[in-house]
Amino acid sequence: MADFSVQSSEKAIGVFDSGLGGLTCVSELMKLMPSENIIYFGDTARVPYGTRSKETILEYARQDVNFIKSFDVKMIIAACGTVSSVVGKQKDFAGDVPFTGVVIPAVQAACAATRNGRIGVIGTAATIRSGAYGKAIRNIRQDAVVIGNACTMFVPMVENGITDKNDIVVKEMIKRYLEPIRRENVDVLILGCTHYPILHEAIAEYMGEDVRLISSGAEAAKFTMNMLAGKNMLSERTESGKVSYYTSDSKELFEANAHAFIGSRLMGEVTQISIDDIIQK
Ligand code: DGL
Repeated sequence: MADFSVQSSEKAIGVFDSGLGGLTCVSELMKLMPSENIIYFGDTARVPYGTRSKETILEYARQDVNFIKSFDVKMIIAACGTVSSVVGKQKDFAGDVPFTGVVIPAVQAACAATRNGRIGVIGTAATIRSGAYGKAIRNIRQDAVVIGNACTMFVPMVENGITDKNDIVVKEMIKRYLEPIRRENVDVLILGCTHYPILHEAIAEYMGEDVRLISSGAEAAKFTMNMLAGKNMLSERTESGKVSYYTSDSKELFEANAHAFIGSRLMGEVTQISIDDIIQK
């Protein structure tokens, strides 16, 4: 078990994702805790993880964690539904640095929000194959009915800017993936992939106003704040925190595409690193 007391509250929070999706978590962290320093790593050279095997995802995730740890952070968030699902409950995944994925935070929010105990989960193929969300839900609520579906086209759609709720492709894909969940009368739907909040409007319209959408990245940010607050580890800085971004592919592409995920201009330096740097950490 990590000992927070010996760690400096002024260290940064480390966040990583296979690409840009984790920025939906960073955006929430910045809103909730504007004075925290944040280090973000997006493995844009190797995205997507969600179509890969468990072994490959674990190997990439270990390398990502080691890279983030090289900044001596106070906490690490795997802001990636795929990594979080595959890592599961490995408590020592980040060694002695406190760690959270997005599964437990999203599941806690979903279980608190559901009235009828029928919860939908959408994510990448690897996430749904892992069954991680379903297991975590049943740990909290044994009688819950969980309906999951892998939405394999959502990540490429988001990456290519195909997100408008009136776009014919968006409408068609949403119907294809969400119809089996909607007909099961769920009252909560977990967006189990950090790319999916970009499709929030389209998904919300299709599911209807009685279905509450849970963003896994945003819930991980809230969870982190509560965890740090509980351990007296929130920064006492009075000025705004600094956000530093690292990407394993083009810095220019990262800057150009980040806007959709973070909802504003990137207020921080972007540094391009090579995969070799990550592997050697
Ligand atoms: N970031 C991933 C997730 O949240 C989606 C992109 C990928 O497949 O790597 O599951």
